[in-house]
Amino acid sequence: MQTSASYFMSNKELIEKLNGGLAWELRAAALYSHYSAYVKGIHRLHLKPFFDEEASESHMHAEAVRLAIVKLGGVAVTNRDSTEIVHTTDYNIMLDESLKTEQKAAEGYAQVLSLIKDDEEMYDSIEQIYFQELRSVEEVTQLL
Ligand SMILES: [Fe+2]
Repeated sequence: MQTSASYFMSNKELIEKLNGGLAWELRAAALYSHYSAYVKGIHRLHLKPFFDEEASESHMHAEAVRLAIVKLGGVAVTNRDSTEIVHTTDYNIMLDESLKTEQKAAEGYAQVLSLIKDDEEMYDSIEQIYFQELRSVEEVTQLL
């Protein structure tokens, strides 16, 4: 167990990365709910449930990340990442934007995982999210 200032330094960095992940999940939830509302035509049949599921997955991820921040004594962000959510009714653009969103989420969690030390429970919880992001990347790639 580290007791030096570096322990608090690394916690600070971890909290910042987790907050980045949380803000990204809040953005993802908004993006998927938006696309769920606007997806049109025959593809709505499959893509509306898909976007709805991704939105609720993002809420679950946000909840888990928020709990990790609380556990570390940090203050969780309440605003979404400000990266633009591209409005469109073209499902191809929706899927492209979804892919970019999931890829960036996976990258962020890979960084978070490298910073978690001495907390197996937190590591496992973030790792599960990381694997789900990778699965989503795979799924959207196949849809494109
Ligand atoms: Fe997520």
